[in-house]
Amino acid sequence: MSAPPYKEPENLKARIKESYDAIAPEYNAWTIAHSPVRLEYLDRLIALLRPAPSDLASPDGPSPAPLRILELGCGAGLPVTGRLLQELAPVHVTGNDISTSQLDMARQSLGVHGEKVADGVTTKVDWVESDMMTLSFPDATFDAVLGMYSVIHLPREEQAEIIKRIAQWLKPGTGYFLANFAENPMPGIVMKNWLHEKGWMFWSGWGVDGTEAKLADAGLEKVISKVEPDSVDKSNFHWVVARKPAAT
Ligand SMILES: C[S@@+](CC[C@H](N)C(=O)[O-])C[C@H]1O[C@@H](n2cnc3c(N)ncnc32)[C@H](O)[C@@H]1O
Repeated sequence: MSAPPYKEPENLKARIKESYDAIAPEYNAWTIAHSPVRLEYLDRLIALLRPAPSDLASPDGPSPAPLRILELGCGAGLPVTGRLLQELAPVHVTGNDISTSQLDMARQSLGVHGEKVADGVTTKVDWVESDMMTLSFPDATFDAVLGMYSVIHLPREEQAEIIKRIAQWLKPGTGYFLANFAENPMPGIVMKNWLHEKGWMFWSGWGVDGTEAKLADAGLEKVISKVEPDSVDKSNFHWVVARKPAAT
């Protein structure tokens, strides 16, 4: 007899939002030690988006065009959103998160909506508080979409759906997706006191083969697909960089 289909917890999104609103300071203090792997992959993405001048055919060419970046579940914006703004300028980053507290902290660290011009180079950041599943953008809007430790909070049917949407939002030929996923298939797990007594939390995933299949189904090409041990915990994550191929 086959197992009954997994039923996700009720009010899932509201409970995740409520938890991150309550535990944001604890999460952000805890996650600092976990930054090395995330920053290693971020730097790989940055190198794909903004090659070093020495790697360019004509390094003295015109100033680079502004990049459009979407960060899903950006949290409090440090270190990742801050590094995107610093390293990719000129750039326009849209930072999305479901948690009011996380985005309040991001605004405090990195500024409110709007543009900054320093040395003639423009950076712009805007913050969008919502479930990432409610976002909508025209096709081919973004040079990159990131989801660091955030897409894993969606039920896995939604993970498959957001991968398809991300593929639509990326620019053909030059658009990249960077995210980490669960190493092993899991329909859904809940922890009731993650990092804090108010830290009710949910994660799910398709596992390495399943996530690779979802990326391929969405028409994304594999650039990197690797399981990495965390620098602190025993937990492993499946790290992915995928590219939207040029339109044929
Ligand atoms: C583990 S934290 C990661 C934060 C940040 N990306 C980082 O690397 O530190 C997960 C973040 O995803 C956000 N999140 C969870 N579910 C979300 C959803 N459905 N839509 C948007 N953000 C979500 C949480 O509020 C939280 O800030």
